[in-house]
This record gives sequence, C-alpha cells and structure tokens, in this order.
Amino acid sequence: DHLDLDLAETTLMELADEAGRIIREAFSKEKRIKTKSSNVDLVTETDQKVEMVLKARLAELFPTHKFIGEESTAGGAKCQLTDEPTWIIDPVDGTMNFVHGFPFIAVSIALVVQRQPVLGIVYNPILELKYSARIGKGSFLNGEKLQVSGQEDLSQALIFIEIGTGRDPEKMKCVQANFANLISQVHGVRLLGSAALQVCMVAQGACDAYSSFGVHVWDIAAGALIVTEAGGIVCDTAGAPLDLMGRRILVTSSLKLTETLSNTLVQYSPDRDDV
Ligand code: IPD
Repeated sequence: DHLDLDLAETTLMELADEAGRIIREAFSKEKRIKTKSSNVDLVTETDQKVEMVLKARLAELFPTHKFIGEESTAGGAKCQLTDEPTWIIDPVDGTMNFVHGFPFIAVSIALVVQRQPVLGIVYNPILELKYSARIGKGSFLNGEKLQVSGQEDLSQALIFIEIGTGRDPEKMKCVQANFANLISQVHGVRLLGSAALQVCMVAQGACDAYSSFGVHVWDIAAGALIVTEAGGIVCDTAGAPLDLMGRRILVTSSLKLTETLSNTLVQYSPDRDDV
C-alpha cells in the first residue's frame, strides 16, 4: 500500500522529540542497570520505556509496518529485515555513556523500505544535536545542511575506532590489532561510545572515518542515510556493499579513504543480527 513519506517524516520528528523528553528527564537521575550480551552491554529502564512509547505510537499510526528495536530484540522479538516498510529504533544509543552521565547519547530512528533507509534521525537531547535525513534531500544538523570533509589521506584523517560491547576474545584481538596498527598511521584517533553519533560526526565533517565490528542494525540504520546524504561512503568493513544486518560497517568521507581503510583493517565477522 501507499507510503506517505511526509506523514512518516513528521512522525519521526515527533517521536524523536518525545524520546528526547524522556531521556533528558532521566539523564541526571539514578539508573537501574541490567546487563545483556556481556557485562559492558547495558540496558536501563529508560531504554525500555523509550522503546515502548515509540513502538506503541508507530503501531497506532502505521499498523502494517514492521518494527525492529534494540530492546524488543533483547526481549526475544524476531530481528528480520524484509522489503516491507520497517521502523528501526535504538532508544538510547550509548547506554554506557547514559549510565555514566557522559553526554554523548542519542535516540536513533530510521524508516527502511526495501532494505534501504529512506528517513533517519539521530537526536542527542542532552547536547541538543539533531541530525536528520530524507532520501534524496540531503542531511541536516539542527537545520544546517551537512557535508563530509572529503579527506582522502589516511595520515591526515581523524578517525573513530570502536571497541563495542562484545567481549569475544577473537573480536578483542581484532580491535587491538586495529588500534595498534592505525594509531601511528592517522592524524588522530577518537572514541565517543555512541555508534550513531560517531557516524553523524563523519557526516558533519568533524571526523573522517568510523568503523566497527559488532554494531547492530539499530545503531546504524539512521546514521547510514545521514552520512550518505552528506556525501559520505558507507560500506562493509572489507569494502563490500553495506549489509544492514551484517554487524560490520565502515563509514568514510571519500572513496579513497574507504579503499585504504578497507584494505588496512584486520577483519572479523560477528554473528549476524538476523540469525
Ligand atoms: C552501543 C554503542 C557503542 C557501540 C556498540 C553499541 P547501545 O549501542 O553504539 O558505541 O560500540 O556496539 O551496541 O547498546 O548503547 O545502544
């Protein structure tokens, strides 16, 4: 049936603001924390509350659409991406940051149609950074159009290196090898603890690349659209086309940097999101 993208976009904005209100209110209060896949993979009542509110609203407005959410998946819901319109939500990206009061957290919401993100928002309600994109229409930070840096030279690049929340020994080896290898080759290394915000900072031109082994579809679905609409390149860590469910992502500001980094990174394949 017909998809009303204007209505979906208005809804996306409203949902982000609603999530922002809940997150802002909870940010400075005491949190009840539980662990998930490892003892550094965290969930709080706020993650669950935001997801419940957003999911309920979407079910009301778009009853035929599919839904994938971080906490619904953790609760046992099936995580399968089809060609159907699918809302993909991370209620609090950067839960570790949230727990510590480190203000780099965001709600991430994407609408994916035929496996392609068509709308995306990544909203940090603490620092008031709202990144958004609609397919073919560019991406914006608080209303200002975004453009990647275009940096091509690894030695001049400021790059994010991700650790992630998995503690599988083989994965940790991969992370350490990439740290050891890259720190002496780049201009600088940064790590913020929110995949969604780091992807958006590449879109903004504030950083030149981001890569991760172990991200989930809800961490990157919105960001992937935001950065491509800003002229960035998104693919798998080895340079293949991005597989949203494949849990590997490389985001850069230029094709040249994609080529260099995909050839430089030590690779690792986590379990997919859809198995
Ligand atoms: C996590 C953050 C973190 C990344 C992890 C994600 P969450 O998201 O984005 O930066 O390293 O892979 O799971 O769990 O806080 O929503």
